[in-house]
Amino acid sequence: MQCARELFVRCFGRQPQAAASAPGRVNLIGDHVDYCGGSVLPLAIDQRTAVCVGRGIPGQIRVVSTRRPGEMVVLSAMPIEHQPHTRWATYVSGAAAVLDDPLGFDAAVASDVPEGAGLSSSAALEVASLLAAEQLNRRSLTPLQLALAAQRIEHEYAGVPCGIMDQYAAVFARLRCAMLIDCRGPRHREVALSERADVVIVDSGVKHNLAAAAYARRRDECESARLKYEASRRQPTPHLARIDPADADEARWPAFGWTRDEGRRVRHVVGETARVEAWARAIEADDLAAAGRFMLASHASLRDDFEVSCPEVDELVEVVARHSGVLGARMTGGGFGGCVVALVRREWTEEVVRMLSARAPSRLVLVVAGGDGARIESLDPYHRDA
Ligand code: GLA
Repeated sequence: MQCARELFVRCFGRQPQAAASAPGRVNLIGDHVDYCGGSVLPLAIDQRTAVCVGRGIPGQIRVVSTRRPGEMVVLSAMPIEHQPHTRWATYVSGAAAVLDDPLGFDAAVASDVPEGAGLSSSAALEVASLLAAEQLNRRSLTPLQLALAAQRIEHEYAGVPCGIMDQYAAVFARLRCAMLIDCRGPRHREVALSERADVVIVDSGVKHNLAAAAYARRRDECESARLKYEASRRQPTPHLARIDPADADEARWPAFGWTRDEGRRVRHVVGETARVEAWARAIEADDLAAAGRFMLASHASLRDDFEVSCPEVDELVEVVARHSGVLGARMTGGGFGGCVVALVRREWTEEVVRMLSARAPSRLVLVVAGGDGARIESLDPYHRDA
């Protein structure tokens, strides 16, 4: 927070008028089901993005970031410009657009959320920018409106047809709690994590650039499967994840006119949603072994049926899962690279972290306690950061 403020003062020569911050997230289980009305189980990470804003040149958005020293992106507030090379700044200027703010603002961003690791640095930036810009505009969105507005930035200004998980988690997270989100509402309930296990994430260090195109294609395949299902059953089916699980069985695929790919996508979506709910029940019953097995099954389904993993991540999941202190591991987030998340017996956490760090010293390894959700930050000079 302090870094964003100092950067603002240095670049714009005055104090900011408002500030906010929001966390990144790791998804424990339930990937590629949020846009099908399924359930997901993310946890905010402790790393956050802070944004300081102040009114600047009318009609303009100027953005600076501690991550891009010496660079200032200047965009017009309305209509928003699509400039691929300044996409990171579009997450900020998108806030002015969705808030219908023609005046625009100056913004300084500081973040320790790892970028390109599948930990939702973009959702953290969207939510923090919106919450800061909202104060300049004297607007007050409800938390759900805030999450939906952030998702709109991603859809309309960053061009990614994402589900609601990342923005929802960034808004609603609470310290040390995972959240079981039913994406139909969306609504959620908190799930307390076990005292006997830790959540460890390790970055594979790869990010394949086919990710965005493949994401949109998977969404299309799911939508096409849903429409065919609806037509053959002659009943409205708004949420593919909630169809009768028996209908996801391979023998039933021809009855709905699904191609083999569509059938496999559906089998993942329906099976994954059941696994998410079973994972929450297992954790609440302190059955860590079962929770670990669901994570491994989730990875296999994302790899084989949904086809969003990649060899580097598959190999990392295998290495991690082979350790006797690890209960289960899987890819997390959109896929095609990024992080692996593992559930580790607490007495083994230190050793697992040591093993992973030794294997690839430059890669990020984190033990996640569960961060807090989005909040307005004080600009009071006497306020000390928590
Ligand atoms: C990305 C999207 C989310 C979700 C995940 C996969 O993170 O932003 O909405 O679909 O991929 O679970």
